[in-house]
Amino acid sequence: MSVFDTEGSDANGHEQVVFCQDRQSGLKAIIGIYSTALGPALGGTRFYPYADEQAALTDVLNLSRGMAYKNALAGLDLGGGKAVIWGDPARIKSEGLLRAYGRFVESLNGRYYTACDVGTYVPDMDIIARETRFVTGRSVEHGGAGDSSILTAWGVFQGMRAAAEHTWGTPTLAGRTVGIAGLGKVGKYLAGHLIDDGAAVIATDVNEAALNWARTTYPQIQLVADTAALITADLDVYAPCALGGALDDDVVPVLRAKVVVGGANNQLAHPGIEKALLEHGILYTPDYVVNAGGVIQVADEIEGFNFERAKLRATGIFETTKRILSLADEESVSPAVAADRLAEERMAQVGRLRSIYLS
Ligand SMILES: NC(=O)c1ccc[n+]([C@@H]2O[C@H](COP(=O)([O-])OP(=O)(O)OC[C@H]3O[C@@H](n4cnc5c(N)ncnc54)[C@H](O)[C@@H]3O)[C@@H](O)[C@H]2O)c1
Repeated sequence: MSVFDTEGSDANGHEQVVFCQDRQSGLKAIIGIYSTALGPALGGTRFYPYADEQAALTDVLNLSRGMAYKNALAGLDLGGGKAVIWGDPARIKSEGLLRAYGRFVESLNGRYYTACDVGTYVPDMDIIARETRFVTGRSVEHGGAGDSSILTAWGVFQGMRAAAEHTWGTPTLAGRTVGIAGLGKVGKYLAGHLIDDGAAVIATDVNEAALNWARTTYPQIQLVADTAALITADLDVYAPCALGGALDDDVVPVLRAKVVVGGANNQLAHPGIEKALLEHGILYTPDYVVNAGGVIQVADEIEGFNFERAKLRATGIFETTKRILSLADEESVSPAVAADRLAEERMAQVGRLRSIYLS
């Protein structure tokens, strides 16, 4: 795929794609800036052993485009970008490599802000920050927001409340049964919010430590063997909180839940699956809308982190989700299409303001 190819590619129309190399430290990185219509592009750095350069490029283009839509609907004055570092972090991550990467981020002079993603963590951001001002997701000791899964889970809960109101008429999960796949950082906080709200929780995880956490912290959570058992359980809501691709051609026909709201990124296994969900009468709230609490949390660092302000903004995911679900009904489209339309509208409306000349 060519970067400039506007045909036959999901990821196109990028403003800028930067290839970065520092041979001595082994750094090979690609920074993708999809849009700065709303402000500097914000998105994390994924450190991953891609099979080849093409795979790294495809990933960064898809991810940076997704961040533009996520940041737009989160109401942030930030555009969409993402970066990938190509290599095995367990083998090649070093202070030298991270700082070399930080210098490339700095060289963009604020067009791109980075953050954590798969394979990069808060201490890595602190190292990168020794070379660039344009980094979020830093440690609390350095004025950072800390663990972003706290507001990610809060936002998912707000999205779920909105979906509950849309489906059952009241914005609460009290008396409903919610199935959580993945009791990791996000799933754990989400389980707590749901139990506090009066929901029954059924969950699964492949990690014994996560299951033990549930047994000791919330013995009322019913644990099942695997995702197959979870999706066929008597659920009202399914919350994918593990890996991507949770909703595929095998899952949709057997899913008992009528509502899907979860923290995982890229829940739709392929384009078109949102239509299958509609046909099966399943309400799917777009993942990038309801899991935006994390980016809201780290973006707040740019102003000087204030947890209450960030939480208030993440609470807004309730209203945004409601708006998307209403628009989907009005325009007879899937919520995924309605969300994309709203995001594009905001990018166009606010981005257009740059054409008003300021002396
Ligand atoms: N952490 C954030 O702030 C944030 C923000 C936005 C989106 N997300 C997305 O939310 C999802 C969860 O993120 P996280 O930070 O909680 O990650 P995590 O690694 O802490 O948790 C994932 C959990 O899923 C479990 N898991 C993996 N495969 C499974 C399977 N087949 N069945 C059941 N459980 C399985 C893992 O054992 C782990 O406990 C990811 O898709 C992530 O991209 C996270």
